[in-house]
Amino acid sequence: MSATSVIGLQWGDEAKGKVVDILTGKSDIVVRYQGGANAGHTVVADGKKYKLSLIPSGVFRHNVQNVIASGVVIDPESLLNEINTLRNQDVAIDTNLLISDRAHLIFPWHKEKDRLLNSLAGRESIGTTMRGIGPCYSDKYGRSLAVRVGDMFRPNAKERLREIAKANADYLAKADPDKNYEELTSESFLTTYFDYAAQLKPFVADTTTYLLDAAEAGKKLLLEGAQGALLDVDHGTFPYVTSSNSSGVGVSSGSGVPACYITKVVGVLKAYATRVGGGPFPTEQDNETGQKIRDRGAEYGTVTKRPRRCGWFDAVAARYAARLSGVGALAVMLLDVLSTFDELNICIAYEINGQKTINFPSHADDLRAVKPIYETHRGWQGDLTGVRSFNNLPRNAQYYLNRISEIIARPIGLVSVGPDREQTININL
Ligand code: IMP
Repeated sequence: MSATSVIGLQWGDEAKGKVVDILTGKSDIVVRYQGGANAGHTVVADGKKYKLSLIPSGVFRHNVQNVIASGVVIDPESLLNEINTLRNQDVAIDTNLLISDRAHLIFPWHKEKDRLLNSLAGRESIGTTMRGIGPCYSDKYGRSLAVRVGDMFRPNAKERLREIAKANADYLAKADPDKNYEELTSESFLTTYFDYAAQLKPFVADTTTYLLDAAEAGKKLLLEGAQGALLDVDHGTFPYVTSSNSSGVGVSSGSGVPACYITKVVGVLKAYATRVGGGPFPTEQDNETGQKIRDRGAEYGTVTKRPRRCGWFDAVAARYAARLSGVGALAVMLLDVLSTFDELNICIAYEINGQKTINFPSHADDLRAVKPIYETHRGWQGDLTGVRSFNNLPRNAQYYLNRISEIIARPIGLVSVGPDREQTININL
């Protein structure tokens, strides 16, 4: 029995897809267990580039089963687009994907509410991806207006969805009188969504039981986290977070695989820091340094194309995220992006209202008040993309990595020096 989880330790976009792709080769089942189509990554398989959002990256290997588990929120239209794009690219998706009957469905009203809530005045906007993620999870926890995948195949499904659509159309008409929401109460709307459900039906299964059976039978599971630990709804930089448990603590609740099976947790970090959307970001460099990182790292959102905010490596935040997620080994990504800087800063402590701390604060206002305490390191000049062993990295790069590992108190298992699978220094993952 063994399950490995891959968790982002920053604010998402840590290049987890590449780590998952590498580990997929050693797995029987790859599981996506939280979040929705707010996540996105590019996988290069057999020389071809594929864009994935909800579908686990194991779909490119014939002997790997892929599971979208119960904690995920599914926009059926977007999932079907993803499935059809993969079919057109000759990926054998029809035989190796399972979708949980317990996963919740995203409807157009969730996206409308996302838009309306984001523009509410009174504080900095969360800057969501507008994919309806938060409103769908709100309905899940509110229960009454929630629709799970399995609900679509029940005898009373049409009546129930009609009522829920009507309740949402009435709410939206009041909240946003300038827009017409009548379409949501039409028969064609219901027909469209039941048609989506029919197309997804061949993939739908009780994935919780499937994964429990697999874990008990000793199958190797790979649990693929979306977003990053600092966006965790309970433990991240609330309210500037996503609406699921995106740190390591969410693996079991989202997948249904008990923690006792998770024998290895890989924490994925960029060699610097980025954030998209609103919220405090202590090491942000809203200046030439940030722009240089953005240019060298092509730091623009996969889903929304927004320029990512860029900054120095924050070891306080990373240490917190690694502890919270139970990380055993670190994967440090995009190290090549930092070449050509004369000096590099690592934030080793925070000063908050005159007090020094190495603990990550629980309130966004305290995080906003942080004055980062930096340690400055010498940079390196050479191109790293051809380096394949730790000892062949420039001495300053080795020192930089060792320092990160020392502060976070976890060994480095992998260093990535370029986007391709081969541009990797695999130390011990
Ligand atoms: P939501 O998940 O769309 O509700 O967005 C909430 C916050 O999480 C926003 O700041 C988003 O930019 C951020 N976020 C959501 N998904 C991702 C992701 O995959 N990568 C990075 N940030 C994300």
